[in-house]
Amino acid sequence: MEDQSEVKVSKKAAKKAEKAAKKAEMKASKKAEQSGGDVTTEVDDCSRGKYGVMPIITSTEKLDRVLVPVKSLNGDEKGKLVWCRGRLHTSRAKGKQCFFVLRQQFATIQCLVAVSEDISKAMVKFVSDISKESIIDIEGTVVAVEKSIESCSQKDVELHVKQVFVVNESEPRLPLQIEDAARPETEEDSTEEKLSIRVNQDTRLDNRILDLRTPTSQAIFRIEAAVCDLFRNSLKSRGFVEIHTPKIISAASEGGANVFEVSYFKGNAYLAQSPQLYKQMAIAADFEKVYTVGAVFRAEDSNTHRHLCEFVGLDLEMAFNYHYHEVLDVIESTFVDIFKGLQQQFATEIETVSRQFPMETFKFLEPTLRLQFSDAVALLRNNGVEMDDEDDLTTANEKLLGKLVKAKYGTDFFTLDKFPLKVRPFYTMPDPNNSKYSNSYDMFMRGEEILSGAQRIHDAKFLSERAVHHGCDLDKIKAYIDSFRYGVPPHAGGGIGLERVTMLFLGLDNIRKTSLFPRDPRRLTP
Ligand SMILES: *[C@@H]1O[C@H](CO)[C@@H](O)[C@H](O)[C@H]1NC(C)=O
Ligand SMILES: *[C@@H]1O[C@H](CO)[C@@H](O)[C@H](O)[C@H]1NC(C)=O
Repeated sequence: MEDQSEVKVSKKAAKKAEKAAKKAEMKASKKAEQSGGDVTTEVDDCSRGKYGVMPIITSTEKLDRVLVPVKSLNGDEKGKLVWCRGRLHTSRAKGKQCFFVLRQQFATIQCLVAVSEDISKAMVKFVSDISKESIIDIEGTVVAVEKSIESCSQKDVELHVKQVFVVNESEPRLPLQIEDAARPETEEDSTEEKLSIRVNQDTRLDNRILDLRTPTSQAIFRIEAAVCDLFRNSLKSRGFVEIHTPKIISAASEGGANVFEVSYFKGNAYLAQSPQLYKQMAIAADFEKVYTVGAVFRAEDSNTHRHLCEFVGLDLEMAFNYHYHEVLDVIESTFVDIFKGLQQQFATEIETVSRQFPMETFKFLEPTLRLQFSDAVALLRNNGVEMDDEDDLTTANEKLLGKLVKAKYGTDFFTLDKFPLKVRPFYTMPDPNNSKYSNSYDMFMRGEEILSGAQRIHDAKFLSERAVHHGCDLDKIKAYIDSFRYGVPPHAGGGIGLERVTMLFLGLDNIRKTSLFPRDPRRLTP
């Protein structure tokens, strides 16, 4: 599944790139010698003082200058003289002029500096020598263009440059080119000399700060922030309280396996695999409806497209009156709020991601489709899968089920209720109607699990029995079990993986694309 993209580069292209980088390096060192770090030196330069390398900003002065966001520049701003700050994305010098693209987050605009009465040849040369990714301040006139500039986000205008100052320079040699990292997956490799280079995942992650500069990454992490925001707002509006639970704990919350052990003064502790026990204790403490957003740790040696050793958990827990479906209704509505919010408020970001990684628009129903686990088994068996009633779903069967459900019901999102009891954690309430099953559920996006939840056992004696049945050490979970001795309302909840939701909503193929600095069994840096 992973690392489908590969660096495709011929020897010829590699040589060429090396030569260009060397040249740029030489140029840069020459320039540094010449300018000694400050502004223009030539005496008869008509652009004197209008370009150069700014002295390093140490906050010695406050400039009374408004910097206009690149994304705000369009035909309405025609004729205005504006200052902008951005990165030099690409540049192309030709004779007496230099075209370059200024990039600010996911906005790009074409800029032109051309020899004229007040623009010297030296200034054009200076601009064409600025290394890619340097941060620059430019002053320019907004000019409408006749032919739409397809390669930029600001298509109907360009900037005619009057002044350029380098705020902070990038080393000329970049470990990856932003253009390559941003290249659409659809683009065919051209047979021309200019080969289309793809950047493989490890190179991206090794140089994550550069990879994160691509419009796609900029969009992904805004969408991820929005998932969090929408989750919070949706639950807040339903009367939930945000809580913060400890991440250093004395006993493994989900049974013994897959837990990171850390030293804790003279003894040991564990990193929390979920806030499970603490959000339930918050219910026992009468908070009634709680949620939490925070890091969870899994010492699972899984090198797959969807496992991380550290991820962000969106967890909730809620007391209900008579039936755990009261909680299921709330969780499903929360997801609908998230999906709607993303599609309504983040259409530009979604579109930006889909330009590089084409996807089908995420489909969901209102109310959410809710199937029983046994229905899913029947659907799978009808399609040739052999499985027992009480078998858990394998990853492959989850995927297949997602496809079958999509074909039958037209949704990428659904709930599966009533999982077999034996595949769920010890604190899951059995189904009173059928002891093989339980009052537990998973939710799926594009055929992958993104939430797991259940009604919890809120009776200390019964909980102890179930814990022993699962081989848990009662001494280690004494505080948890004791919290059910003084009266607890019936309650249910669930846990969601933030990176998975973002990945699957956007139809991406790897969770490392939606984790800012991913942690997996092979990666602990940067
Ligand atoms: C850019 O940043 C580097 C590293 O902090 C610094 O050494 C250099 O002087 C800066 N250049 C400018 C023009 O501010
Ligand atoms: C048990 O079955 C009854 C009757 O079909 C149903 O109303 C109830 O919701 C079921 N209970 C659970 C926990 O599923």
